[in-house]
Amino acid sequence: MLLAIETSCDETAVAICDPAALRVESPSHSDFLKADLIASQLQLHARYGGVVPELAAREHLNTLPLLVEEALQVARLSADDISAVAVTRGPGLGGCLMVGVSYAKAFAWARRIPLLMLHHMEGHLFAAELGQATADARVSPLVYPSLALLVSGGHTLLVELSEFRKYRIVAQTRDDAAGEAFDKIATILGLPYPGGPALSRVAESGDPHAYEFPIGVRQDPEAWSFSGLKTAVARVAKGIADRNDTVTANLAASAQDAIVNALVLKTMAGVSRTQPMQLLLTGGVAANSRLRQVLERELAMKNVVLRVPALRWCTDNAAMIAMLGARVMEHSSASLATQGVAAAHLPPDPGYGPLTRWSLENLEGPT
Ligand code: KG4
Ligand code: ZN
Repeated sequence: MLLAIETSCDETAVAICDPAALRVESPSHSDFLKADLIASQLQLHARYGGVVPELAAREHLNTLPLLVEEALQVARLSADDISAVAVTRGPGLGGCLMVGVSYAKAFAWARRIPLLMLHHMEGHLFAAELGQATADARVSPLVYPSLALLVSGGHTLLVELSEFRKYRIVAQTRDDAAGEAFDKIATILGLPYPGGPALSRVAESGDPHAYEFPIGVRQDPEAWSFSGLKTAVARVAKGIADRNDTVTANLAASAQDAIVNALVLKTMAGVSRTQPMQLLLTGGVAANSRLRQVLERELAMKNVVLRVPALRWCTDNAAMIAMLGARVMEHSSASLATQGVAAAHLPPDPGYGPLTRWSLENLEGPT
């Protein structure tokens, strides 16, 4: 049984899975995933309009031990049944990662079991293996080559998956992440936190053609830029004397379309360059129905399958870390001390600390 821990941002998450269940082809979720808990800190940070790193770390510290207890109860297991631990090593908020990594190290060291220290964004990719959260859903492996659009509050990345654990960044943002753009524009429009869902809800009744907003670095297929859009929306909003609900809805719909069109434009350029079999869409912004709708339409014309995990696994969670950890174990049973993985040392090697910044292209981390 593998215990997985995720504390990179504002969700404390713990999952327990049975890697042996992967020996059969497309096992059911219930055979593989024994517990999958997420304690969200959304309420804690709402009144500050964003995640406060120090508060988040303290909350992880309080919550994590209790959540591990609860996960063991849900799985009907005891701590002695756990034979490996997987934890998010980075990237993320330093204090938050430190809580998860320290806990995982101590847990693994005390029980003399292996510790896998994994990349958060790689976890997001493997969430696609979990697929949908329905009763009859099955775990199904990633196919290669694939392309993944990872869009969250902290990241906007287009990643090529050429083979197992081999990644190349095809495009990324130069400034704000797509989710951050949604959140900041929502704030400008006076919408509640978190801004993304609020903005997309308001946009439903608006006219996306009411305002012409720019697509940043339009000519560069390898980059996004969303900071200019935010400024443009602020300028237009300020110039409107009578901002009623219709105006707000039109602004929201037009801004949403600018973000979605930018995401789709660069994604489709990446599809042409890399010819993937599937496109994985994940991260919190994958919840945006307009984005899914436009992407699906464009991809269908290229015969590329769109694969979006259940929303629960698009946002931060530990099931994705469990999924990745189980695949890593499956592929490296001889030696766990390979890329992006550290075996548990006795005593724990202080060299394997959290990595707040860490590229998917360099899973071995800084040397
Ligand atoms: O992956 P996530 O839960 O957390 C991290 O940032 O790691 O993503 C959260 C982001 C926020 O910026 C939120 O506003 C955005 O995802 N988001 C949305 C929608 N739902 C969440 N953005 C646009 N439309 C949505 N429906
Ligand atoms: Zn994330």
